Amino acid sequence: MSTGCFLLILIPMEKELSFKYSQFEHWKELPEADHALVASAYKVMEAAYAPYSKFCVGASLLLEDGTLVTGSNQENIAYPSGLCAERVALFFAGANHPDKIVDTLCIVAQGDLVDVETLLSPCGGCRQVMVETEKRQNQPFRVILVSQNNVTIIAESAASLLPLAFGI
Ligand code: THU
Repeated sequence: MSTGCFLLILIPMEKELSFKYSQFEHWKELPEADHALVASAYKVMEAAYAPYSKFCVGASLLLEDGTLVTGSNQENIAYPSGLCAERVALFFAGANHPDKIVDTLCIVAQGDLVDVETLLSPCGGCRQVMVETEKRQNQPFRVILVSQNNVTIIAESAASLLPLAFGI
């Protein structure tokens, strides 16, 4: 007696994630209202402590009431003890302005570690912190990324830069 043979093929459901962003050839093409924020990011970048990577990063946050909170990367001879510019700024804002909504984050950088033509993009750890900031404030914030060749992109939310973020 022969038994029937069934072949069960499970087809996975394919999904796709995409994100929209605006691109400018130079940060000076950004709306006038963003210029002070970019300038403050460049200013704080000068205070980067980056003797090991020689890659200097500046991050500037515009809070809802117009307050600017800035941070630069701070390295340490025990490498993992250092901290990225974005997290320095975001954690300062969390500690000192916990109830103020973050409206925009601007990041600039300078150094040979990353090619001048490469789009500046925050590391994964910073994106995770950025996404949690959005979750805490229940509102997205704009992210302005100024590359070393001045090409600038604006993402409308941090979450769009980190699909499937941990725990969010
Ligand atoms: N860095 C940042 O400040 N932000 C990032 O998103 C990526 C990297 C810093 C960390 C370190 O001091 C240097 O850049 C090289 O990785």
